[in-house]
Amino acid sequence: MRDFISMKDFTKGEILRILKLAKSLKENPQGNLLGDKIVSSLFFEPSTRTRLSFTSAAYRVGAKVLGFDSPDATSLKKGESLRDTIKMTGAYSDVIVMRHPIDGAARFATEVSNVPIINGGDGANEHPSQTLLDLYTIQEEMGKIENLKIAFVGDLKYGRTVHSLSKALSMFNCEFYFVAPDLIQIPEHILKFLNNRNIKYTLVDDYKDILPEIDVMYMTRIQRERFENLDEYEKVKTVYEIDKNSIVGKCKEEMIILHPLPRVTEINIDLDDTKHALYFKQAANGVPVREAMYAIALGKYHLDEDEMDVEKR
Ligand code: CP
Repeated sequence: MRDFISMKDFTKGEILRILKLAKSLKENPQGNLLGDKIVSSLFFEPSTRTRLSFTSAAYRVGAKVLGFDSPDATSLKKGESLRDTIKMTGAYSDVIVMRHPIDGAARFATEVSNVPIINGGDGANEHPSQTLLDLYTIQEEMGKIENLKIAFVGDLKYGRTVHSLSKALSMFNCEFYFVAPDLIQIPEHILKFLNNRNIKYTLVDDYKDILPEIDVMYMTRIQRERFENLDEYEKVKTVYEIDKNSIVGKCKEEMIILHPLPRVTEINIDLDDTKHALYFKQAANGVPVREAMYAIALGKYHLDEDEMDVEKR
């Protein structure tokens, strides 16, 4: 059994083995892999992709799903604690997927749960399943993860997907550009993490300055819901908006644009039919990646195994 809380809990080898298992499950579906298992899906914050793709992934490996998509429908409304909610849900299921608005909530859940916890996003902290599908998409499209130049653009302060992905990519000798105004620039604790690992990065104001050099452009939404002061949100809400005209012909031919979605105005829909736009394929990759996460969380596969090809088991 294995929890998925932060990308710093995984080695490069473990990440590559998760991606290998996801690829194997995508190519060779295993409809009964977890046929005796029940997944709890506890979403204390809104979600479309993460909740539905974790649900789809469970069905595709034969597991059953229970849970909620709003805390208002639960006894949390009556004052029940997160601790008791997690303890009870663990009694009804074999693994818990949870999204919560408080940084560290998923780590806390591991301390009180007797079943594995998968973090579906905790506040502005981390989103490890998103990172694994981001890496899967990069590997599938670019043929490698190592030695890439990646620009993170937008809300880097509150963007938990950026925090998790930059931690993971620090293991792959990538070079980072953090493109954001000061108000929503990458937090100090992430820069400290990168400094401790001697990772090369540059803070940038205008993506146009680095567009011709990068291999991956990772766009993000400015997260209105996390701003304490909405006047600050108003100042930055449309700071980076890309469209076909601003990208095509001005970047490398093979550059890919990723976005964890949902988007608001930061990517014009006229980019969607260009070869650079990978964000819908990226979201679809969430299903096999999350199938693999269930299999590992529930001990069906172990990350120290040399051979994780399900066809050969
Ligand atoms: N990428 C992502 O976490 O999307 P949702 O908020 O829709 O789950």
